[in-house]
Amino acid sequence: MSGPLTDGDATRIGGESGLAALPNRTTHIVGWGHEVPKALLTNADLEQIVETSDEWIGTRTGIRERHIAGDGETTASMGAIAAARALAVAGVTADSVDVIVVATLTPDHPMPSTAVLIKEAIGSHRAAAFDLSAACSGFAYAYAVAHGFLAAGLGQRALVIGAESLSRIVDWSDRSTCVLFGDGAGAIVLDAIDLHDDQNIATRPGTLSFELSADPSGAFALWIPGGSGADADPLIKMDGAKTYVYATRTMAAVATAAIERAGLTVSEVDLVIPHQANLRIIEHVSKAIAFPMEKIFVNLDRYGNTSAASIPIALSEAVAAGRLKPGDVFCTVAFGGGYTSGSFVTRWDADPANGARAAAVDPSTIKIKRPVGGAKAAEVPAALKDLLGAKRR
Ligand SMILES: CC(C)(COP(=O)(O)OP(=O)(O)OC[C@H]1O[C@@H](n2cnc3c(N)ncnc32)[C@H](O)[C@@H]1OP(=O)(O)O)[C@@H](O)C(=O)NCCC(=O)NCCS
Repeated sequence: MSGPLTDGDATRIGGESGLAALPNRTTHIVGWGHEVPKALLTNADLEQIVETSDEWIGTRTGIRERHIAGDGETTASMGAIAAARALAVAGVTADSVDVIVVATLTPDHPMPSTAVLIKEAIGSHRAAAFDLSAACSGFAYAYAVAHGFLAAGLGQRALVIGAESLSRIVDWSDRSTCVLFGDGAGAIVLDAIDLHDDQNIATRPGTLSFELSADPSGAFALWIPGGSGADADPLIKMDGAKTYVYATRTMAAVATAAIERAGLTVSEVDLVIPHQANLRIIEHVSKAIAFPMEKIFVNLDRYGNTSAASIPIALSEAVAAGRLKPGDVFCTVAFGGGYTSGSFVTRWDADPANGARAAAVDPSTIKIKRPVGGAKAAEVPAALKDLLGAKRR
């Protein structure tokens, strides 16, 4: 295939082989970590603020509870803690990082980027830093961009972070969306590695392929009007049924394409880590690509949909749960606003035991810079204040 693949209005990229520009250089994950807020909002809690039920949410989505950012807790603060844990797991310093990419649709501010705030909080002095907007597919996009940066020789080490405070942009009076989302952050350290002549597709470590797509036909089926346009409404809007149909179609297609680009068959994949939006969507993908649910990592029951944070949180938990060992091939696959979708396939080669090093990070020492005399610190949304406050008492 030469040139982009097209599927209706969607444009897919990934290159001829989906591999790095320089054939002898790829990337691999050497550190991982996540952070979620303490406050838990259960389905029973939601029954108190909108007309819904634990039974409805559980059967339609699989979600049981989600974490909600507390007063002063932000996308940057959670992202910085996740990043510090990933650096500790990798056993490397913040100053060894060349580029920080943060995938988020809920940055602390439109400017400065959340990546810049995280850079300062973790004590990095020389990394380039920027945010990337691709909604729930953001982590796959950010991984691909960081991989491209390193594979092209622009640097040696990247921090790739997915972080969200979705509770702040959810309409807590809209039962069709508010039951779905949660807050959190996940991060990886991605290093460039040189490949040897004797390494082929069956043995080479690290990133094997990726597949990204963007389909503007869904631009206003899952969106936030606020921004520099005329409509400043900052809350999320969604056509659930249309999004469900898109999700089931695209997830199977991009995962299959990424696996094929890696030169593998679905049966050679050891673990699939899907975007954690809805258990029914994941079960549909399992059937569509003939991949058993037992080999698909699911944690959405405890977190809901954390958008760009969902895959790095799930990856971090999957490693901790012993679901990935050196030599295993995993495939991530996501879909989201845009519509966007993305998938990458990687052969894991890190020692899962390194995950224990994350415990050395003291989150209370990681501080996000606030403007002098500037904006008020972010707070728990008014609709949840009494509910979460009453649970703490
Ligand atoms: C949102 C979603 C769970 C709804 O499930 P569904 O089976 O399609 O349900 P429907 O939309 O057909 O709604 C059925 C009924 O439940 C109602 N309903 C919606 N939300 C509800 C809730 N939280 N509690 C109770 N009832 C609810 C609807 O109003 C509708 O009632 P009506 O038939 O009287 O109009 C599903 O469409 C979905 O998951 N879509 C994808 C969303 C997504 O993943 N977004 C993030 C993308 S990254």
